[in-house]
Amino acid sequence: MPESLNVLLGVSGGIAAFKAPEIVRSLRGNGHSVRCAMTRSAGAFVTPLTLEVLTEFPVYREEYLQANNSGEELHISAARWADVICVAPATCNTLARLALGLADDFLATTCLAFTGSLLVAPAMTSEMWEKEAIQAHVTTLQGRGVILVGPVVGPLATGETGMGRMAEPDEIVAAIEGTRNRGDLRGRTVLITAGPTHEALDPVRFLSNRSSGKMGFSLAAEAASRGARTLLVSGPVCLPTPHGVERIDVTTAAEMAETVEKLAPEAGIVIMAAAVADFRPESAFESKLKKVSGPPELRLEGTEDILTRLGEIAPNALRVGFAAETEKLESEARRKLEGKNAHWIVANDVSRSDIGFGSEDNEVTVFRRNQPSVTIPLQAKRLVAGRLFDLMQQELEGVEAGMATTGG
Ligand code: PMT
Repeated sequence: MPESLNVLLGVSGGIAAFKAPEIVRSLRGNGHSVRCAMTRSAGAFVTPLTLEVLTEFPVYREEYLQANNSGEELHISAARWADVICVAPATCNTLARLALGLADDFLATTCLAFTGSLLVAPAMTSEMWEKEAIQAHVTTLQGRGVILVGPVVGPLATGETGMGRMAEPDEIVAAIEGTRNRGDLRGRTVLITAGPTHEALDPVRFLSNRSSGKMGFSLAAEAASRGARTLLVSGPVCLPTPHGVERIDVTTAAEMAETVEKLAPEAGIVIMAAAVADFRPESAFESKLKKVSGPPELRLEGTEDILTRLGEIAPNALRVGFAAETEKLESEARRKLEGKNAHWIVANDVSRSDIGFGSEDNEVTVFRRNQPSVTIPLQAKRLVAGRLFDLMQQELEGVEAGMATTGG
């Protein structure tokens, strides 16, 4: 992928369209070429002239325009020109048209003709975002490899605060920049664990934790989009499988251990983002515990530590653990780095409500052996995943270059 990108910014008709000029300015400031395509209603929110002046290129507005005398249709030449298409804002209508594969305007038609990285930055009210139909379209798009940037919780045009606000321009630009790494993990196999485990108490109850799987699934989506063969071992979560990912569902820590042990020898990178139970009931009650019998006495036993075992079963893989901490982040992470024989521990402070369990965003610090720690500031989990893979790729390339010069 070239250093500078050709970005086609699709602007659809919502109030957040007023941020499109800022996205254009920022992309151009970073050295990228930008063209804009507006839907019919976008012009009510931002003028084509503004975008034309900033991009120094006419705005695409009509479908099926013929390019000057070339006979080539503009949606084809625009799709071939672009390395990335980013639709920001993506309204309900535009999301639906993209999910359904409609070709009823220039932007939708160009997206159909386009084969590169497609990003969408939805913007709408909380009620619209939560509608089953919209969520189904988003799931469909993500399932096809479309990268979702936001939306985020914040002040909305209605005056309320809630989910549905378009991601900020710098986050959208960072996501566009992130697409340059597509393909850099080609030839590598990445094994990722995600989500919680459920440890049965009786046929209807279990011990678990608050992991939603979002961090692990973001890592898997990122790895697959960068060309890795991606194996995702997931505990019980309600998330769609990212495009191009091979997913294996498990329930308990023992099942996760067994599956990881089977797959890890194939992997060059193993990332344990799952919140695996440390303890489970010694045995599960065969029938449902009755309230009238009073609280049961529970005896717990430890589970096998999967990450620690990886040193034996995948000695050559880059072994990355996550650490969910509520205090003493650094000392706990360093203890786990040594104690679990990992190469990296990625620590997050789960006592905060804006990061960690269940949140859209994360902030992590990477602790590595004999190297300074690196903090990845608060941003969407998918972008955190991107930064982590940038660092992993650097480390693996460094190791491989060292092996090549020493003939190893
Ligand atoms: O899923 P989300 O809602 O997006 O939340 C993300 C997250 C907070 C779950 C994630 O970022 C995270 O921190 N995952 C690790 C949670 C955890 O179990 O941390 P720990 O400090 O208890 O364990 C340290 C490491 O050992 C982890 O890599 C864990 O997968 C691994 N482990 C733990 C127990 C066990 N029996 N076997 C293991 O391999």
